Amino acid sequence: MNPTTFSFPTRTLFGVGALRELPVNLAKLNIRRPLLVTDPGLVNTEAFRSAAATLGANSEGKSWFLYSGVHPNPVENDVRETAAAFQNNNCDGVVGLGGGSALDVAKAARLLVKRPQLDWTKFYDEPDWSGLFPFVAIPTTAGTGSEVGRSSVITLDATKRKAVIFHPELLAKLVILDPELTRGLPPKLTAATGADALTHCIESYTCPVFHPMCDGIALEGIHLIVEALPRAYKDGNDLDARGKMLVAAAMGAVAFQKDLGVVHSMAHPLSTICGMHHGLANALCLVAGMKFCAARKPGLYRRVGIACGLDVIKSSDAEADQRTISFMKDFLAGLGLNTKLREHGVNPDQLDALVNQGVEDPCHKTNAVPVTRENFRELYKEVM
Ligand SMILES: [Fe+2]
Repeated sequence: MNPTTFSFPTRTLFGVGALRELPVNLAKLNIRRPLLVTDPGLVNTEAFRSAAATLGANSEGKSWFLYSGVHPNPVENDVRETAAAFQNNNCDGVVGLGGGSALDVAKAARLLVKRPQLDWTKFYDEPDWSGLFPFVAIPTTAGTGSEVGRSSVITLDATKRKAVIFHPELLAKLVILDPELTRGLPPKLTAATGADALTHCIESYTCPVFHPMCDGIALEGIHLIVEALPRAYKDGNDLDARGKMLVAAAMGAVAFQKDLGVVHSMAHPLSTICGMHHGLANALCLVAGMKFCAARKPGLYRRVGIACGLDVIKSSDAEADQRTISFMKDFLAGLGLNTKLREHGVNPDQLDALVNQGVEDPCHKTNAVPVTRENFRELYKEVM
């Protein structure tokens, strides 16, 4: 067995009102002139107003600056503009506020500040990524878990595809998980982002890499999501459920340092080719992906079922999988996530392009079982 790295290093402040701790923590990190990075939709929300008021209330006369141009599936130019805003305002730290897109751009902009001429396709040629400006992550969705991740997903100009820029130096110095900030998330987005977190937990748990620490975190993440996501979906003001979802999303992302699987490889092209929301894409592919894996590796989902509260300890492998998958199907349907791709504007003419990108996506390389091009075609057809 090759040596592997187990990393759980992010300092995290959790709880209702945790945002109030931001100014004192910025001071501890020697951030005097933070750049707040977010997307245009968020600027009109209560979450943004709270963050702005918290930064504005800073008593030491410090300034803060704003970049709010991040796209839903971020592109290279978002990172360039963020780095330019950082340098034009002589900033000394980055605060990402938002969903995965804003956090990913905030994270990656520091690379361009260090290497303004960076060619992203040659990112890994750089011998030294130390000394990046500090990054504080404040998620306003409970899904991607980007706040605890060491990577940014950016669509590159050169390839028009999502590239995963991974480096340990990208990690946030501090994460603030304040359930108040997700209170305003509408039910549809609550469901879709939550389904992303759920898919992270399921795919990382079933990924065949020896990492029992991540496995435990993934299973408890599933347990939390099954309990809290329906509550957060029905009542956005349920701060206990909102808090559990924020932690579960972070847990999903911690767990997927193990890696992901075929569902994410199906979901990524649905975003780049069809513009579909990442969480929704995962949700619509999850059950088909689970059925595919269970048929080739019976018993794979027994402990997922147990985490969902199912009594499948003594069931046969086939029954444990079947009951778990059936539970997941009903669970997603309860969140309004039981639709077909074509109901979201995906055209069967796009099948070839989806298959081509799906096969090339790296996530399925660590799937529970191998996935062929023909498998991708069948899987997409099933959910089309
Ligand atoms: Fe994801």
